[in-house]
Amino acid sequence: MNGLDLLNIPLIELNKELFKRGDFDFITITERGNNVKQQEAFKALLSGDVREILYGGAAGGAKSWTGATYFTFMALLYPGTRYFVGRDKLTDLRNATLSTFQKVFKTYGVHYVAGAKGSPPEDVDWVEYREKDHYLEFSNGSRIDFIALRFLPTDKMYERFGSFEYTQGWIEEAGEVNFGAYDVLKSRIGRHLNDKYGLRPLLFITCNPKKNWLYYEFYTPWKRKTLSAKRMFIQAFVQDNPANESTYLEQLQSLNDKVKKERLLFGNWDYDDDPAALCEFDAICDMFTNAHVIAKGEKRISADLAMHGRDRFIIGAWTGMVVTIPVDKPLAKGKEIETDLKKVMVARATPHSKTVVDSDGLGAYLESYLVGIKEFHGGSRAINIKDYGNLKSECAFTLAAKINNREIRVICTEEQKQKIIEELGVLKRIDVDKDEAPKKILQKKDMKELLGRSPDYMDMLIMGMYFEVYRPRKGSTAA
Ligand SMILES: Nc1ncnc2c1ncn2[C@@H]1O[C@H](COP(=O)(O)OP(=O)(O)OP(=O)(O)O)[C@@H](O)[C@H]1O
Ligand SMILES: [Mg+2]
Repeated sequence: MNGLDLLNIPLIELNKELFKRGDFDFITITERGNNVKQQEAFKALLSGDVREILYGGAAGGAKSWTGATYFTFMALLYPGTRYFVGRDKLTDLRNATLSTFQKVFKTYGVHYVAGAKGSPPEDVDWVEYREKDHYLEFSNGSRIDFIALRFLPTDKMYERFGSFEYTQGWIEEAGEVNFGAYDVLKSRIGRHLNDKYGLRPLLFITCNPKKNWLYYEFYTPWKRKTLSAKRMFIQAFVQDNPANESTYLEQLQSLNDKVKKERLLFGNWDYDDDPAALCEFDAICDMFTNAHVIAKGEKRISADLAMHGRDRFIIGAWTGMVVTIPVDKPLAKGKEIETDLKKVMVARATPHSKTVVDSDGLGAYLESYLVGIKEFHGGSRAINIKDYGNLKSECAFTLAAKINNREIRVICTEEQKQKIIEELGVLKRIDVDKDEAPKKILQKKDMKELLGRSPDYMDMLIMGMYFEVYRPRKGSTAA
């Protein structure tokens, strides 16, 4: 390309050339200054080996702009490639994310065909948003799908993404996104024309601080300098982005909500959680590595049966305060539950009298076959009625105290771990301000709403405390 040609070249062609050459000044330098972090992000996106890039971790750091710009240029430069941008809800994609894309198109000279109103021109690259199927279609055959990552009880394993094939992808506002979605989407990239163009399977992730998978998969390892070479975290604050409206910083500074301010303005990942939460987040994570907790003491079983709106049949096998999960399956029938329980009781040398199951109907059935096992009635009176609103709350508070004191160890799979961490995150106290009232935990239906599923692992752990609070006096039995 020589100087003369430059005069006649449309803006977008010039920008495409610059992008291809790795010269990102036309993006990051605005009249308000240079966004050095954004430069860093584009360099990481376009070169090197990294497969997952987490960018942001505070408000206003140019996360959305960076994502929209990167994927627009990739789509333009590599005909026929396919990308996704996913976030919790489709409405947010259609409103906020699409609007960022439109600004990006305008800024860099991409011809945008606005729905039915326009018809695509013949001689220039264009892009159109296909409203019905929620994707951006480029004239060169590339496309960017807008996908809702919301957890659906009818699709617990995110099988709806199982057949998708993408070149690369972007999870936007990942704090709202379930681990399962991230895990599945990782396997859906690198599957479309990557070899042809020499593009690596890359996942771009943008978020504000959130204590979920982002915290323990990215932030903590990054802080400890143990983040794998395939992952990268670029922390960007509002102050890093000179392109912000001048009042944005002020707005963040004037936030009254302390937790929000810590997260959004200071990018603090270790913000204080909800004061109603029973377990400290770090303590929950420690449960899986508490090697000092030794499998010594009474053998017990606590089982959450897959009945009445529950999702899974889970057996927890305890030795002292070390618990393993020998059985974990979706809905099981009465006979199967009985057989599985019997097997575990024999294999683990656990007596009937040290086995507790929830009482949603099946408990009584089982009790008639497995004589002497205990039925857990969560709503019944607490042992310590002065302090606790019911038995389940008493067991839950006992569990939380042990978790916070690092007295419990859970041995399980990575997938189970993720779920346990999520579930214990919704173990909260109600009426937290009423110091005098007997303590009670959030109702199950509210927990389900927060989680999008039934907290079955947590219930198993809570029931595991039954024999802790219900210590039989000498000469009597527990129930
Ligand atoms: N390279 C750029 N050129 C022009 N404007 C930019 C650029 N990067 C960011 N901006 C502008 O800076 C502001 C903040 O950027 P953006 O919305 O991408 O940040 P964010 O980190 O996604 O913020 P939030 O936390 O609010 O989601 C927006 O007004 C955006 O248009
Ligand atoms: Mg944003």
